[in-house]
Amino acid sequence: MQLVSKQVLTCDGWLSVFSLSSKQYLYAFILCSSMCLTGTQAECPVQLNPQRAVVRYGGSVAVNCSTSVSHKGMGWEASEGAVPMTTDSLITWRVSNLIEWDIQPFCYINHEEQCQVELPVTIYKTPDSVSISIVDHSGPMIEGKQYELQCDVHDVAPVQDLTVKWYKRQTLLNQTTFTDASKTPVNETTTLLLIRPDRADDGAQYRCEAVLELGAEGPQPPPKETSGRLNVELYYKPKHFNSTETIIKNDEVTLNCTVKANPAPTYTWHSEHLKEEISSSVLQSSTVLLSPGNYTCTTTNSLGSDSKVFIIKSEQADRTTFWAIVLSGVAVALVLIATYVIFKIRCSNNSVI
Ligand SMILES: *[C@@H]1O[C@H](CO)[C@@H](O)[C@H](O)[C@H]1NC(C)=O
Ligand SMILES: *[C@@H]1O[C@H](CO)[C@@H](O)[C@H](O)[C@H]1NC(C)=O
Repeated sequence: MQLVSKQVLTCDGWLSVFSLSSKQYLYAFILCSSMCLTGTQAECPVQLNPQRAVVRYGGSVAVNCSTSVSHKGMGWEASEGAVPMTTDSLITWRVSNLIEWDIQPFCYINHEEQCQVELPVTIYKTPDSVSISIVDHSGPMIEGKQYELQCDVHDVAPVQDLTVKWYKRQTLLNQTTFTDASKTPVNETTTLLLIRPDRADDGAQYRCEAVLELGAEGPQPPPKETSGRLNVELYYKPKHFNSTETIIKNDEVTLNCTVKANPAPTYTWHSEHLKEEISSSVLQSSTVLLSPGNYTCTTTNSLGSDSKVFIIKSEQADRTTFWAIVLSGVAVALVLIATYVIFKIRCSNNSVI
């Protein structure tokens, strides 16, 4: 929700009214209507406790209607559990097995004149079943295509308190609510979610959950029913991370072309240096002679193919280092020999003297 900026408020009061969001209008409406309701209730001197009843279909309910004024009689009117007019000041509407979807109880009192307060009753029924399916499709999905998921919620009431939540693994993807005013159980099959799976979704599990959000007077936590898990097998074509890779040749060279794809891909290698066709995903210099040059690997499955070029280069730097070591070795040897010879000559000169 967007906050009304202070500037707008100080500049022009009307502008701030226009910048109220629809949710704020809703709050204002609820506030106003509850004030109006409290107004009428204040006129009729009875209190209901609780003020609203939430009952499971076939469950029990008890609501007190009490007054603190003297009166000529009060009672509960209802198609079930009615309490005949009495001069008591606390009377209880009680039903032990409530199976009437459209019950509308009210408590009345004969004070100065007769008045009444209605008790809002919500009768709920958790769904018999919740199931998830793919619309018009069976078998593996194909990457990049669009699919519709459907959630069937059977025999649930009241549907305006129902929220259907969609999950991929533990992530909430979307949720749907309903505006149908029906109080009796309905089957909801119209909730659809569009998905366009990618390769990360291979093996992902989707599920839907039907939650009855019945408000503060309802059961806590809200009753929910979860579908089974829909396992997605996804077909996707091979795709290499890089299209070329350069390798400096040393003792052991490994060309690894392995890539994930579903269905499992096949591999073929092409190079002027290869005498036969090779179909493994990895080439190793221990089993195949790999001279410097280009080696192209083509990976293929039923959805398509992708190629990658490996470039083997000979190791110039290594040779330079090798020769540098050899030359410095030779130089050291020469110095040692020269030192030895000079020493030897000087010693023999001394012995002569
Ligand atoms: C209704 O009144 C009875 C008698 O005073 C009391 O025991 C009971 O707790 C009350 N029920 C509710 C919901 O307030
Ligand atoms: C809901 O579906 C069930 C099973 O298909 C069916 O027996 C029942 O009559 C349906 N209820 C409504 C309200 O359509």
